[in-house]
Amino acid sequence: MEKYIINGGNRLYGELPIIGAKNAVLPILAATVINGSSNLISNVPKLRDVEIMIKILDSLGAKVEMKGDTIAIDSSKISKVTLPEELVREMRSSIIFMGALLARFGEAVLSYPGGCEIGPRPIDLHLKSLRQMGAEIEESHGFLYCKAKGLRGCDIQLDYPSVGATENIILAASTADGTTIIRNAAREPEIVDLQDYLNKIGCRVKGAGTSIIVVEGVKELHSCEHRIIPDRIVAGTYMVAAAITQGEIVLKNLVVEHLQSIIAKLKETGTRVIIDKKDIKIIGPDRILPIEMLQTLPFPGFPTDMQAQFMALLSIADGTSIINETVFENRFKHAEELTRMGANIKTFGNVAVIKRANKLTGAKVYAKDLRGGAALVLSGLVAEGVTEVENIYHINRGYESLYENLNRLGAKIISV
Ligand code: EPZ
Repeated sequence: MEKYIINGGNRLYGELPIIGAKNAVLPILAATVINGSSNLISNVPKLRDVEIMIKILDSLGAKVEMKGDTIAIDSSKISKVTLPEELVREMRSSIIFMGALLARFGEAVLSYPGGCEIGPRPIDLHLKSLRQMGAEIEESHGFLYCKAKGLRGCDIQLDYPSVGATENIILAASTADGTTIIRNAAREPEIVDLQDYLNKIGCRVKGAGTSIIVVEGVKELHSCEHRIIPDRIVAGTYMVAAAITQGEIVLKNLVVEHLQSIIAKLKETGTRVIIDKKDIKIIGPDRILPIEMLQTLPFPGFPTDMQAQFMALLSIADGTSIINETVFENRFKHAEELTRMGANIKTFGNVAVIKRANKLTGAKVYAKDLRGGAALVLSGLVAEGVTEVENIYHINRGYESLYENLNRLGAKIISV
């Protein structure tokens, strides 16, 4: 198993452009099934999850070519509606193909995606909504058999603003008969990017970014070119890297609007944030101030995908901070690993109390999920001595060239 060996104690300085967003490109790659035509998607990050999506598209019969950061997908020759089980199990967000395949073919067969490290990850909201649109979905022997003679537009009230469920409904509704209204829709920027892609191929989607999304079903679709938005969570991770190492870095090509909740919480720690159009300069303070309450919420609240990184930062704060993880059931696995490095963290269900640690010291720690792994790297940057982060395949699912980029900014990391 690959691991990172990190020599802590170096401040980070320099500039870094931010790559395309994993959580925008994944649903858009699934959506390319719908138009049965060519699609040129640029600013695509080189990630394990993107590779899996490409394998799934290829297995369905799409023609896929990746050149640099651009993927060309021709979905005209897709003839299959069954997703390979081993790939669905490896990446739960492949559930998003369900809406896309139902929109194009009225049929989809995939294994139940199952949970992952951060919780059981149910799909009840996806299934309830697609059934409401007329899909017949049979769950048996761990597989989902979906059929729809003709999906019909309808008025859907989501019990929870689920990102994946919102995306799946939009895809299924894109070619349905009539209009679909999604109420209590997720408002994440990645859903706005999906809407922008879909409207470029001839769909009629509006309201993404708000709680009410309206999709008018259309039958004629065509090819398009689309550039993926920058990754707000990758950007937030590097912002914490500057803060935790008392460094000074400039991140470029951002959509600042997507980062407001992260910026606000970083400022509470005493970190200076200077915005210049699409660039943000982060200046780490000599001492990190605690945050009285950090609660993760659906967008535009503070993102759950930044919770672990902030727990690492608050481990060296001068005082006690509280984190309340309200989105996922089991997203504190990094706390135990941070404690091995000297952090003073106690968790009570989905509440974590982080007290001032004397100092963080290097240790052998294990990444257990994508963002938790990134948090361990951030702690290794500031810990005294050498930190070994094992199981970095988790990290490579969501970060392109993480250790190379950190080394370019002055870190001392080797990957073995
Ligand atoms: C997306 O996951 C992201 N993944 C996650 O990013 C992100 O943490 C999450 O949204 C929340 O922002 C991608 O976009 C590929 P949800 P998703 O459906 O769609 C419950 C990362 O690190 N729920 O909004 O799976 C669910 O259990 C990843 O990049 C149901 O109960 O998230 C969770 O508690 C991690 N029933 C909550 O809703 C359902 O049918 C939020 O899940 C669906 C969800």
